[in-house]
Amino acid sequence: MLPRLAGLAALAATASLFTTAAAQTACNGYSEYCSRKYSEVSIIGTHNSYAVQQGSLAANQNYTVETQLDNGIRMLQVQGHMNNNQLHLCHTYCFLLDGGTFTSYLTTVKNWLDKNPNEVVTLLLVNTEGVAPSVWAQSYTDSGLASYAYTPTNVPIAYSDWPTYQELISSGKRVVSFLAQNADISSVPYLLDEFTNIWETPYDQTDNAFPCTVDRVTGSPQNKMYLVNHYLDVNMTIAGSTFPVPATGALDQTNAVSGTGSLGVQASACAAQQGYNPTFTLVDYYDVGNGSVFEYAAQLNKVTYKPVTIGNGTTSSSSGSSPSASGNSGSVTDNGTSGASSLGLSWQAVAALGGVLAGAAAVVAL
Ligand SMILES: *[C@@H]1O[C@H](CO)[C@@H](O)[C@H](O)[C@H]1NC(C)=O
Ligand SMILES: *[C@@H]1O[C@H](CO)[C@@H](O)[C@H](O)[C@H]1NC(C)=O
Ligand SMILES: *[C@@H]1O[C@H](CO)[C@@H](O)[C@H](O)[C@H]1NC(C)=O
Ligand SMILES: *[C@@H]1O[C@H](CO)[C@@H](O)[C@H](O)[C@H]1NC(C)=O
Ligand SMILES: *[C@@H]1O[C@H](CO)[C@@H](O)[C@H](O)[C@H]1NC(C)=O
Repeated sequence: MLPRLAGLAALAATASLFTTAAAQTACNGYSEYCSRKYSEVSIIGTHNSYAVQQGSLAANQNYTVETQLDNGIRMLQVQGHMNNNQLHLCHTYCFLLDGGTFTSYLTTVKNWLDKNPNEVVTLLLVNTEGVAPSVWAQSYTDSGLASYAYTPTNVPIAYSDWPTYQELISSGKRVVSFLAQNADISSVPYLLDEFTNIWETPYDQTDNAFPCTVDRVTGSPQNKMYLVNHYLDVNMTIAGSTFPVPATGALDQTNAVSGTGSLGVQASACAAQQGYNPTFTLVDYYDVGNGSVFEYAAQLNKVTYKPVTIGNGTTSSSSGSSPSASGNSGSVTDNGTSGASSLGLSWQAVAALGGVLAGAAAVVAL
């Protein structure tokens, strides 16, 4: 009996080991995702993921990219601008908010992927200056991230033709990258053209009705993935010019799972129109709502939401260096440099912005 019992115990132990191993085989946190196509899993992206600067009107996030990834963000959107001959991540202008070099940013992403082998991360690179793909690629090479870059055999990739999560993870090519402007796959094959693969809803909305209109696409939106821009702005007048800034006072509503102006309402409308869910949802201040953005994604993906601790472990002092205690409501106007500090921008930045706006009827999207 005893040897037999021991054998059974060993068997039980082995079985439980297997169970544990199986339970740990998750793709982006959920075992259900492994067999799904990349296009079929809805992920949350951070709008201007590098724009972290407490209290600044040009900021869009509270937490660094590392914390964003730790918390569950799987699409990182950035804007690249040449600054002193280097590719920097800046918000429209480097004098407004400079998030550092792209190489340094990608090094953080690379180190995170090294530590998290079952995760797939998407990069959305906004390239309004039309910086050459080879310049973007240099940072992939220098940071080591290039070794993770997914290169498809045929482009564009139809919604139904994407590989599964398991295929991406098993191949080690766990970084999918889209360049919004000036992509050239003959030059850099892993910097995919955004708008032949993805269409987008309108951005910089100041009305919480959040339409599902096809705003930007190359060709037909049929059988393509799509991205909903779900961040609300208010028009603010600074130095005599008006431009959109995050409506921080409305974040609880904007980042909510359901209700007026919520993520859920927009996604349901868009899914009804397109016939399937958005693959990507871009948000500001993803942490506001204490995980609601991830709960929304879990609902779209029909999995049981697993709450995570949002933030970096440092409890908020709620000292409130934001422009106003109730957030940006659109009522702040500043026609000179006097109120610059209350806007979280240096007076030099406001003066420079005023100069840029006065000098050209530039469309400034903050
Ligand atoms: C945590 O995030 C807050 C807000 O961005 C930041 O002020 C703080 O320095 C961070 N703490 C750590 C340990 O990274
Ligand atoms: C904000 O400005 C944009 C661009 O001028 C305009 O289309 C939009 O209607 C404005 N929003 C509000 C709430 O005034
Ligand atoms: C935030 O969510 C976590 C995880 O569900 C929970 O433990 C915590 O109490 C929540 N915090 C607040 C302030 O609601
Ligand atoms: C995050 O940013 C929002 C918007 O500015 C602000 O209301 C909130 O207090 C910030 N949270 C932390 C932890 O800094
Ligand atoms: C700013 O604008 C207000 C209202 O238009 C005006 O009363 C005030 O004199 C202006 N201040 C400066 C410094 O131009």
